[in-house]
Amino acid sequence: MDTLDKMLQMARDAMDRAYAPYSKFSVGAVIKAKSGKLYAGCNVENASYPAGSCAEQGAISAMVLGGDTEIQEMVVMGNGENLVSPCGSCRQRIREFAKSDATIHICDRNGVRKSMTLGELLPVSFGPENLKF
Ligand code: THU
Repeated sequence: MDTLDKMLQMARDAMDRAYAPYSKFSVGAVIKAKSGKLYAGCNVENASYPAGSCAEQGAISAMVLGGDTEIQEMVVMGNGENLVSPCGSCRQRIREFAKSDATIHICDRNGVRKSMTLGELLPVSFGPENLKF
């Protein structure tokens, strides 16, 4: 199984673990870090709706805890007719740890629907370099 297939399988498993009783919209996210390690996350909703978190956030937390700080490639997976691309806040969260050429695979359970770079998803972005004086 190649790395992307493994990421897709981990994202399907993460979707199955999502806690989304309110939206019923399960999302799985998997990061391939520069080290080659893979990290998964799922969305976790809350009765106080704004306190919920996105799948990408969970995957980023797992990555940082695992000792990695550079995202090379990422899978974001959800159901539906429309592409499940990372929300605006998550694009910025990914930006913190990714270069503009990092690939984001927008997927459903069957596989990749569209692959884009972070630079395409979040052009002219603000990042850590802005705070280096
Ligand atoms: N969601 C994600 O986990 N990632 C995204 O990029 C888009 C939205 C989740 C948040 C919420 O639990 C559900 O999908 C519906 O918005």
